[in-house]
Amino acid sequence: MLRFAIIGAGRIGQVHARTVLAHPRAEVALVADPVPGAAAALAACVGAQATESVQDVFADPTVDAVVVGSPTAYHVDQIIAAVAAGKAVLTEKPVDLSVARVDECLEAIRGSEHRVMVGFNRRFDPGVLELKARLDAGEVGELRQVTIISRDPAAAPAQYMVGSGGIFKDMTIHDLDMARFLLGEIAEISVSGHAFIDDIRGIGDIDTCALTLTSATGATATILNSRVCAAGYDQRIEVFGPLGTLETTNLRSTGVQFHGASGTSVAGPYLPFFLERYAAAYAAELDHFVTAIEAGTAPSPSVADGRAALLLAEAAGRSLAERSMVSLV
Ligand SMILES: NC(=O)c1ccc[n+]([C@@H]2O[C@H](COP(=O)([O-])OP(=O)(O)OC[C@H]3O[C@@H](n4cnc5c(N)ncnc54)[C@H](O)[C@@H]3O)[C@@H](O)[C@H]2O)c1
Repeated sequence: MLRFAIIGAGRIGQVHARTVLAHPRAEVALVADPVPGAAAALAACVGAQATESVQDVFADPTVDAVVVGSPTAYHVDQIIAAVAAGKAVLTEKPVDLSVARVDECLEAIRGSEHRVMVGFNRRFDPGVLELKARLDAGEVGELRQVTIISRDPAAAPAQYMVGSGGIFKDMTIHDLDMARFLLGEIAEISVSGHAFIDDIRGIGDIDTCALTLTSATGATATILNSRVCAAGYDQRIEVFGPLGTLETTNLRSTGVQFHGASGTSVAGPYLPFFLERYAAAYAAELDHFVTAIEAGTAPSPSVADGRAALLLAEAAGRSLAERSMVSLV
């Protein structure tokens, strides 16, 4: 049994705590969150101890592994402290908002990189895994185009958005990692975007964007993001080549469809948000982490993958600000 501590009892900390609880070879030992009552409330749901001092996690010799689910600004310090205390780490994305800080992290964990994984959960989505396997098997032929549509149902609370680092480092970073996962390394990036929502414009961010990434082979990835979407959590990926197209579609609460003289409709709405849509991905991500740590092998994606996605997010920001194509080679 791998004994976990969950750092941060917010939206994603709750997802991870329940996922660990459901894993046959993992258990939640401790939940840590400095906000009074937050850790205790989650710990009570998963049968764990609670603390309001994150230092207790690093000092507890019975904790084998740590999930870092705190706000992004705390990730690097907590990853470094956990690794120094001999714990394996599954950290949330982004590793940090600054590439220099990620480099500090890589330096501090040198020799233990194989015990740290970054939570790009979409790599573990069953639809994405099947699409990637069939792509790699040559079903569409040479990969020429990837289209990634990722729209949130509603913007996160303003307090979260302010510390999130902006749309590219907070939201698009999942899609940038997915582009690398499917396409390999990216050579060029070009972005257009706009703030349609007053609150988001007010914090200097945008809510809607289109990115074009070009790989060294000439294949492209187009990413479409929106912070809001009336249809719900819209998550689609298409890969295209000379032999055909593979696509992952939105999951719905029910697959029952109506077909009649007035037209056809799909009864069930899209699954509401990330915790429902990617439940299977979070479980598979955790299983990959547990299995790798048990075996002493390196889990993937790594902090280096987190750094590569962050570099793309920074380049996206530059492209938007300068209204130009940014070269990464
Ligand atoms: N992979 C995903 O699907 C996914 C989804 C959502 C969020 N995230 C990432 O997870 C992180 C947290 O996001 P969230 O949506 O859960 O935020 P959140 O605001 O819902 O929760 C953050 C929690 O951390 C606690 N906290 C504050 N300071 C802390 C500290 N110093 N140490 C420990 N805990 C502290 C807060 O009290 C809160 O309970 C962010 O980095 C975000 O990018 C990832």
